[in-house]
Amino acid sequence: MPAGEDRFVAPSVTVDDTDVEVSLRPRVLDEFPGQERAKENIRIAIEAARQREEALDHLLFYGPPGLGKTTLANIVANEMGVSIRTTSGPAIERPGDLAAILTNLREHDILFIDEIHRLSRSVEEILYPAMEDYALDLVIGKGPGARSVRLAMPRFTLVGATTRYSMVSAPLRDRFGSVYRLEYYDARTLATIVRRSSQILDMQVPADAAYEVASRSRGTPRIANRILRRVRDYAQVRGDGTVTLDATRAAVELLDVDELGLDETDRRVLDCIVVKFDGGPVGLDTIAASIGEDPDTIMDVYEPFLLQLGFLQRTPRGRLATPAAYRHLGLPLPAARAAAAADAQRALWEAEENEG
Ligand SMILES: Nc1ncnc2c1ncn2[C@@H]1O[C@H](COP(=O)(O)OP(=O)(O)OP(=O)(O)O)[C@@H](O)[C@H]1O
Ligand SMILES: [Mg+2]
Repeated sequence: MPAGEDRFVAPSVTVDDTDVEVSLRPRVLDEFPGQERAKENIRIAIEAARQREEALDHLLFYGPPGLGKTTLANIVANEMGVSIRTTSGPAIERPGDLAAILTNLREHDILFIDEIHRLSRSVEEILYPAMEDYALDLVIGKGPGARSVRLAMPRFTLVGATTRYSMVSAPLRDRFGSVYRLEYYDARTLATIVRRSSQILDMQVPADAAYEVASRSRGTPRIANRILRRVRDYAQVRGDGTVTLDATRAAVELLDVDELGLDETDRRVLDCIVVKFDGGPVGLDTIAASIGEDPDTIMDVYEPFLLQLGFLQRTPRGRLATPAAYRHLGLPLPAARAAAAADAQRALWEAEENEG
């Protein structure tokens, strides 16, 4: 388990989640709230592929953990009415392993490769002709007598998922017909997900309690489902099993998750930038050293949500705390900080305008 993944609000999957996640996973697009843009495009692509009786175009999902990449891959297979074979970047060690998987697929099947950014170069090279021409290029023999043969393989659909889009190589990226970035969910959508999960778990959850769970879940369905289960435990052990708003609040207080879903470590990151480094800008490595965490963990696990909340800005000179971060920590904003934040924001807007 990577550092930072053992905390309650870790967005990545924990041992505790595995069984229940399967039962809570929506099976069809209509049962999957949120991600409207991706869903609409997927609906159209599926319909078109079915009409033409072709394999669906290759799809890539990226975004932070727990937002529904694996769920969507399974939904796509279900809606296409095809089988899905699931593997992951690190699990495919040699080109031969991938060749074996590919030749065992049936026409229109889905091959789902999770953590696709971790495929090795030599394995990736098998994928290119497979994705483009449904062909396998194999080298037979060794040395001067070696020759390459091209085998036809079933027309399949590759679905890739990654939390690290920037680490997917450009040639691989270019071979996907569509690429979707999954977004954090708003509280209203999460509340819908919480209510759906509560029905599956056979719980009665009033709307205000569902909303309370939703608003502390960092925009992440996996965390919402996890908090919901802890609320159920709390209501059962400390009450008569009835989930109320009060019971929900008491349960989350015990988990040390604040009203925005931030935990102790998030607050330490913010506190470090705001108090120790006077609001920044401060480099990632300096922050990491100062709170005793690994820089990659901060970047993958803590930062995305702090950026999403607008508490941090990434600038060329390092991370900068925003006025909202000061407010959340209940600290006054020094005048110089307010000016620096305004400058950074202006620079960002200017850069965006120049791009567009
Ligand atoms: N839109 C949604 N509606 C209902 N439940 C969802 C939704 N998105 C995700 N979930 C639930 O959240 C859990 C995590 O989703 P999933 O495993 O698909 O995330 P992921 O993006 O693949 O995460 P990771 O990057 O860790 O692999 C699942 O149990 C799923 O039921
Ligand atoms: Mg997944």
